[in-house]
Amino acid sequence: MADDVFRTVIEPFRIHSVEPLKMTTAAQRRAAAERAAYNLFQVDAIDVLIDLLTDSGTGAMSRDQWAAIQRGDESYAGSPSFFVFRDAVQNLFPYRHVIPTHQGRAAEKILFSVLGGRGRVIPSNTHFDTTRANIEFTAALAHDLVIAEGLDPRAEHPFKGNMDLARLDAYLHEQGDAVPCVMMTITNNSGGGQPVSMANLRGVAEIAHAHGKPLFLDACRFAENAWFVKMREPGYADAAIPDIVREMAGLADGMTMSAKKDPMGNIGGWLAVNDDELAAQCRNLLILTEGFPTYGGLAGRDLEALAQGLTEVVSEDYLRYRIRSTGYLADALEAMGIECIKPAGGHAVYVDARALLSHIPPLEFPGQALAVALYETGGVRSCEIGSVMFGRQPDGSEKPAAMELVRLAIPRRTYTQSHIDYVIEVFDQVRGRVSDLGGYRIVEEPPALRHFTAKFAPLT
Ligand code: F0G
Repeated sequence: MADDVFRTVIEPFRIHSVEPLKMTTAAQRRAAAERAAYNLFQVDAIDVLIDLLTDSGTGAMSRDQWAAIQRGDESYAGSPSFFVFRDAVQNLFPYRHVIPTHQGRAAEKILFSVLGGRGRVIPSNTHFDTTRANIEFTAALAHDLVIAEGLDPRAEHPFKGNMDLARLDAYLHEQGDAVPCVMMTITNNSGGGQPVSMANLRGVAEIAHAHGKPLFLDACRFAENAWFVKMREPGYADAAIPDIVREMAGLADGMTMSAKKDPMGNIGGWLAVNDDELAAQCRNLLILTEGFPTYGGLAGRDLEALAQGLTEVVSEDYLRYRIRSTGYLADALEAMGIECIKPAGGHAVYVDARALLSHIPPLEFPGQALAVALYETGGVRSCEIGSVMFGRQPDGSEKPAAMELVRLAIPRRTYTQSHIDYVIEVFDQVRGRVSDLGGYRIVEEPPALRHFTAKFAPLT
């Protein structure tokens, strides 16, 4: 634990192995953007200077994780590395069955293959895209019941990821047998990386259980959520992070997990449940597509790295640095008049592109215009979360998304404060010529998930 006498929250690590960044000129980046048809998913990573596309699988592993990799045992069945992994998961999430998967969406696919299906409906605070897609793929429906503040970018609320408890109760009354389970995403990624309070999670669990429904956590960013509980929720200031995590876990009946986030992995995930019958059904599906239940699509060395990562992510020194460094970027942008979702989330800053590029109408994609400008100006890669991602309706028409956001997701332990200062300077330059930026039109797009592959052309 650090003294509290210094203002600067330093990275609680030093650098042991480095990756070079390829420096590029603005002219080279403009050419790369044009080659990619102004879709940043199509830009080669080598041509990106600061990659804030996602915090998923992009973090730096520690010395001790790399050492753990050397212990990886690649036995097909019953590998000791599985038991190290299982024990590390159960230390924080004491569910009876722990089923490894290659990443989060594989766990979702398996869980909803069992629980979903036509006629079923599944509520959550906010389903992440892959969760929603996996539910809808089974012909079930996914519904988001986040509190009203969670949909207002400027509303200051300590737990904007909370579920609207009254709506959940009414929903369970109305839908009855159509509901196989209740989900909670912690932190709420699609809502801006916003946390869920322990009191709210307890309320959700009570309501779900009163209706006889199991509660599952989508717990990708559980440690960041626990830090916010410690900082913001009365009664938790002195609680240890692992205890907060265990308390959250104890309210639910199982979880899906992407280990590419807080468990500090470059790949991995798991599904954990208490119910024996459900676990047996899930394991049968696991064997079909992921692998034997003691490795589930991962190598033994991955399981070892994740077990070690789980011990590191609950460190208070790490979490203090993590949450402060995300807030540092948000504060600097706000200070220069660039509006962001408030308060800053745990893993990302979400810039309000509609406010900054107010001269570009939503269906000319202000978020895309900002993301491309950040890339061309300084090689910073971000991700549009607006009408490109959500504007296309099932009938093929276009409707503006609720918000036009650009997400700056911060990989774990990867960039230093000077990298972030550089990002801030890039924003300052873009802001200086914002009225010169024009919108985009889509010239080619696939039938679904168009943001990954659509081709764009500038309108001016
Ligand atoms: N749930 C949440 C809340 C997520 O943020 C993600 C992934 C998943 C599930 C799926 O996990 O990628 O391992 O299959 N989020 C990434 C992102 C892709 O950029 O936010 P996965």
